[in-house]
Amino acid sequence: MAVPVVLDVDTGVDDACALLLAALHPGLELRAVTCVGGNAPVDAVVTNTLTVLDAAGRDDVVVARGAERPLLEDPVDARHVHGQDGMGDLDWPSSQRRPDPRHAVEVLRDVLLDAAARGGDDLVTLVPLAPLTNIALLLRTYPDVARGLREIVFMGGSAYVGNATASAEFNVFHDPEAAAVVLDACADLGIAVTMYGLDVFYAPLVTRARAAELVASGGHGAPELAGRLITFACDRFGADTATIGDAGAVCAVLAPEGVQREQLPVRVELAGTWSRGRTIVDRRDWTGDLSHDPHGRARSTIDVCLGIDAERYARLWLDTVSGRTS
Ligand code: RIB
Ligand code: CA
Repeated sequence: MAVPVVLDVDTGVDDACALLLAALHPGLELRAVTCVGGNAPVDAVVTNTLTVLDAAGRDDVVVARGAERPLLEDPVDARHVHGQDGMGDLDWPSSQRRPDPRHAVEVLRDVLLDAAARGGDDLVTLVPLAPLTNIALLLRTYPDVARGLREIVFMGGSAYVGNATASAEFNVFHDPEAAAVVLDACADLGIAVTMYGLDVFYAPLVTRARAAELVASGGHGAPELAGRLITFACDRFGADTATIGDAGAVCAVLAPEGVQREQLPVRVELAGTWSRGRTIVDRRDWTGDLSHDPHGRARSTIDVCLGIDAERYARLWLDTVSGRTS
């Protein structure tokens, strides 16, 4: 039984790697993709997302445009990392498809309420790979969608390191209020959450050589696009390997035993001058006496990925995008 999934993306080079995996792997049923401003402005994200799905032969997948900007934070992007078009400036033929006329939040509501009506194995795993603005709007506007959710596996945050700042990971830093709302709403609604953060994000690597083999397949197909994306990332950082990034969170849905998780209390820092957007992962032993702590235990306890079988996930991605997994 393929696992029903919905991806929320800010396509982006590594979001594109994740979309290829979700679109091509037979163990997943990609029900919809929703777009949010993040790595690039939301309209570029929509175009990039449609283009990737076309390359994967999946023009059947609903794509919807969502939030243009964070709930409160000023919008910034990461085109210094992902290129001016947000997806590696590959000169790849853009999709001519139009997005769904509904807003992303409406598409998410419709897909999740439909899944709730069907129940059973039909519950959806929601995989946010971007700032959590759409997801925060969804859960506060239509809390009933929780009935259609199996779990949320999101790429964001970290227990130890930052990338956007010394302290915070980009997706959470981009919209800290949204991240805080999502954790709070999931605690309210009893939605299981897995955080695929920077502690594991950089580990699954693909070499420049393997990327070149993918590019050689040509024909503007999925393998060539996958290879071009990895090659761009290698070039961008002057390295011989590149992470599959967001695609690792999709691997965690396909092969959950490939990550080591710990159930831990997590908060989002909203006020810190130097720490705004940090996910504060509490690894203290709460069986002891922490009554002296004025903050108390965070409301949200989620599964935090702290270890990963990186080679397995890199191989899973490579086998899928190269067509060896069918
Ligand atoms: O911090 C990494 C995250 O920020 C990834 O989702 C990447 O695509 C960017 O959105
Ligand atoms: Ca992303």
